[in-house]
Amino acid sequence: MAPQAWMLGENGEENLESPKELLPLSRLEEIGVLYWQLDPKKPESEEELTKIRKERGYSYFDLIEICPEKLENYEEKLKNFYREHIHADEEIRYCLEGSGYFDVRDKNDEWIRIWIKEGDMIILPAGIYHRFIVDRSNYIKLMRLFIGEPVWTAHNRPQEDHPVRQEYVKNVKGNTGFALAAR
Ligand code: LAC
Ligand code: NI
Repeated sequence: MAPQAWMLGENGEENLESPKELLPLSRLEEIGVLYWQLDPKKPESEEELTKIRKERGYSYFDLIEICPEKLENYEEKLKNFYREHIHADEEIRYCLEGSGYFDVRDKNDEWIRIWIKEGDMIILPAGIYHRFIVDRSNYIKLMRLFIGEPVWTAHNRPQEDHPVRQEYVKNVKGNTGFALAAR
C-alpha cells in the first residue's frame, strides 16, 4: 500500500472533529513529493532500491533509528525534526521498520500529514516546508539517502529569500514540471 496522507487542522494538529479523509496521492505529486513502495523483507526490493539509487544518484546512505534508547539526544533531535524547515537538497527516507509522520505544506500552505510505514520510500523536494514526528508506535528505522556527501542542515521557516525555496515555489506554482523533472 502506498503511504496514507490527510490534512491536518489549521493549528497543524490532527483535526479530531471531522472524520479523517485520505487524500489522493496526486496531491503529493503536485507539490513534488515522490514515493515508492518497496518491501524490505523481499530480496527483489534490494534490486529495486539499487535501481532507484542509480537512477537518482543516491550514492550515500545511512540508517537512523528514532526512539529514546537508540538515538542520542533524542528529545532535542525530535524537537528539531518537528520544527518547520527546508533543506537545500532532497530529503530521501526509506522506512525499514516502524512508522512515523512526515508533514508537508501544500500549495495553500496547509499541512498534509503523510504516514510512512515499513516499505515506504519518500522523497521531499528541496525547498518544501516540512517536519517529522513519531507516531504512537514511537519507533521508526529509516534509511537516509543522499546525492554525494550528506548535508543535513535544516533552515527553519521563514526562508522566503532562500534561492532553493524560491526555486521550489516557482516549480509548484508555475507548471507540471515536477513529476517530469523528477522521473
Ligand atoms: C529527519 C529525520 C526523520 O531528517 O530523518 O527529519
Ligand atoms: Ni527535514
